[in-house]
Amino acid sequence: MTDLDLEWVRARFSGLDPALAFFENAGGSLPVDGVVRRASEYLATDMVQLDAAYPRSERATARVHAGISAAAELVNAAPAHVVLGGSTSANVYVLSHAIAKLVGPGDEVVVTDLDHEANRGAWMRMAAARGATLREWNIDPDTQALTLAGLDAALSERTRLVCFTHCSNVAGTLHDAKAFVERIHAAGALSMIDGVAYAPHRRVDVSALGTDLYALSLYKVYGPHLGLLYVRPGLMERLENQNHAFLAGSGAYELMPGYVSHELAAAVPGVVEYLRALDAHHGGEGSLDGAFARIAAHEERLAERLLEHLRDQPRVRIIGCPRADRAERAPTVVFTVEGMRSEAVAAELASRGVAIRHGHFYAARAMDSFGIVDRDDGVVRASMVHYNSLAEVDRLVAGLREALG
Ligand SMILES: Cc1ncc(COP(=O)(O)O)c(C=O)c1O
Repeated sequence: MTDLDLEWVRARFSGLDPALAFFENAGGSLPVDGVVRRASEYLATDMVQLDAAYPRSERATARVHAGISAAAELVNAAPAHVVLGGSTSANVYVLSHAIAKLVGPGDEVVVTDLDHEANRGAWMRMAAARGATLREWNIDPDTQALTLAGLDAALSERTRLVCFTHCSNVAGTLHDAKAFVERIHAAGALSMIDGVAYAPHRRVDVSALGTDLYALSLYKVYGPHLGLLYVRPGLMERLENQNHAFLAGSGAYELMPGYVSHELAAAVPGVVEYLRALDAHHGGEGSLDGAFARIAAHEERLAERLLEHLRDQPRVRIIGCPRADRAERAPTVVFTVEGMRSEAVAAELASRGVAIRHGHFYAARAMDSFGIVDRDDGVVRASMVHYNSLAEVDRLVAGLREALG
């Protein structure tokens, strides 16, 4: 596979600043220029009420619908099964209320010790409100990954719902979500996958996964600040309407109280257009699968450059897979440094024009499982995406060398 033409890629992200090596992408990626242009065009020329009969409203409605269709295409689903909301946290919150009636006293709900709190807290509150029992699916302490054995230990004949992450936002570990979903379905439970940390790096195909529910945040996939929630065919009808009473039966709209920010929805096609163009520019057919295969190959090189250095540092503990293997991890790399607070490491790097961060990244429970005593100081995270360059990783490595002495 040809190397990524980084000049071409980086020319499409006006937010990139040569003075700042940006490694905070798991917090939020930069939006691609096509997204910025669409949002601003919508605000400038189309900002009227939807669904009216005058031409401007018809255009606005078409643009918002095109955004929902593009979001659906991104995950290989039909638009009717896609909810767009303000964020994944907000979407899961609404979903947890909509699904509550399917869980009753004595039932069991499973969450993991690795997930971002967005895919834990709402489920814990829902389980408590329904008199259900909460079970925790724990990582393998040696690999910091979720495993089928861990899942089996958490499942029972009373399990109704299992919520887990496709990729850890703190350890970068990729999970075999399809195998997990099969096991969850065999136990008669519903599967809810947090794909927020997966979607910027690999193609999401909810149909191939066979999952009941899948969430991701478009603002981490080069898009606008929106969350995307997929609900599989047949399940939407069993959920309770969370919108106005007279909107019962309106499908995905039932889970979109207040609908979606119009200008941001209208911007989503910019993501799909960019990914298709990326594949075509490198000789592919302009497919999303092709784009993500190219992205994965470049990311593996970036991650290996950093991990190679970290593996050589005796004071550094890498959490998650220490190799860059694209089948096993995303280029979200976290570590701690013996004898140094994570906060100090991040500050040292920031003073050298390298944007990384420390903390628990809202995966606070995972810090306990990683054996991190001070949750708030947490770990140091360098999260890369495909627009990062090897030269930027070299800056990060040089900064770390100086900081660690
Ligand atoms: C893995 C993961 N899940 C969920 C979330 C929450 O997403 P949002 O900010 O859209 O609520 C994040 C945000 O960082 C995340 O990394």
